[in-house]
Amino acid sequence: MSLLKAGVGKEQVLTETRAVVGLNDVSLTVPGGAMYMIMGLSGSGKSTLARCINRLNEPTAGKILLDGRDIVPLKPAELLEIRRRRISMVFQHFALLPNKTVVENAEFGLKMRGVPLQQRRKRAEEILSIVGLGKWCKHYPHELSGGMRQRVGLARALATDADLLIMDEAFSALDPLIRSEMQDELLRLQRTLNKTIVFITHDFQEAVKLGTRIAIMKDGAVVREGTPQAIVADPGNDYVSAFTREVDRSRVFEASAVMQPCEAIGKSGEIQIVRQATGKIKRIGFALDSSGRVVGLLDEVAFSKLDAGSACEGLMSREFVKVRENTKLIDAVRMNGPQQPMAVVDADDRFVGLLQAEHILAFIASSPSTVASAHGVPNV
Ligand SMILES: Nc1ncnc2c1ncn2[C@@H]1O[C@H](COP(=O)(O)OP(=O)(O)OP(=O)(O)O)[C@@H](O)[C@H]1O
Ligand SMILES: [Mg+2]
Repeated sequence: MSLLKAGVGKEQVLTETRAVVGLNDVSLTVPGGAMYMIMGLSGSGKSTLARCINRLNEPTAGKILLDGRDIVPLKPAELLEIRRRRISMVFQHFALLPNKTVVENAEFGLKMRGVPLQQRRKRAEEILSIVGLGKWCKHYPHELSGGMRQRVGLARALATDADLLIMDEAFSALDPLIRSEMQDELLRLQRTLNKTIVFITHDFQEAVKLGTRIAIMKDGAVVREGTPQAIVADPGNDYVSAFTREVDRSRVFEASAVMQPCEAIGKSGEIQIVRQATGKIKRIGFALDSSGRVVGLLDEVAFSKLDAGSACEGLMSREFVKVRENTKLIDAVRMNGPQQPMAVVDADDRFVGLLQAEHILAFIASSPSTVASAHGVPNV
């Protein structure tokens, strides 16, 4: 510790003391309900960090606060209680018990907690059907594919009702198709279960797809931490930009990152008219009702007729595509069959901006540095 504090590197600490620096000065806050990704190359310290959270690894120094309470000084009995009730872990290689059936595996955490057979069986069967294995309860792990075994592992962790789930490379052993299905499954489950998940992966694409925040590790230290959008927009260093380069930006960024502001230009009866504020080669805009909800699309022709004094009602097209501001760009493009300007709305269905296919394309093609500055993606 004193060598590290004096700034001596990991390699030299090893030569001088034969101690491996697993983690060095890592400080992170995982918000409740987050899907928090810890990403890094092999040996960067991801598992060490994950295993510190439930103290499978004892930290040499520092604190681990669970709901504000330091769990490092806890006695074995208290720690056991936390492991049983608060934190559950899903491992890369499933760690199923081969001589127990699927349902017995799924209820194992509950059994350890002393939950009576009937009660734990009911719970395990419920969770197994949620993960799509309802019909496999009486089978044995060797009768299942890798993806199915992984789902049993997931069910076992979910069945315990622990509010913190640590998933160490839980999907890494799966083939790409099943892996992608499991990712979708986890996102779906998370929407209803709302647990706090710490998910370890060496795959940046996976981190971007699943994560609400990502911490990127290198040599036992965190080199970048933030939302997927902020990290892709501004990697901050070469190590991180090597990962972000390959990312499909249309799957990372949302409509709000590309939409263009509109300005209110007047009223036609009860209808408020807004028009694209920038790039006015062609005038386009929307008609809004008194509470700011979009009622129609106005094109160049409509604007000329409006100028000539016609009423908005008869000019606007009611066939327009509306997307929420948190819609991923790729989904916005898919929804926009007619290739018209799209109306971007907030959670209350109120108009917030205008989105055009050509701007999405330009955004996806632009380099990270220009994106961050041009669109003000917050660097958080
Ligand atoms: N029990 C141990 N004793 C000594 N050193 C260890 C131990 N476990 C891990 N290490 C070292 O700690 C460092 C981080 O290992 P860790 O397993 O956390 O990496 P990782 O990021 O999870 O890698 P991977 O992607 O390969 O799983 C490595 O240098 C490793 O050699
Ligand atoms: Mg690991």
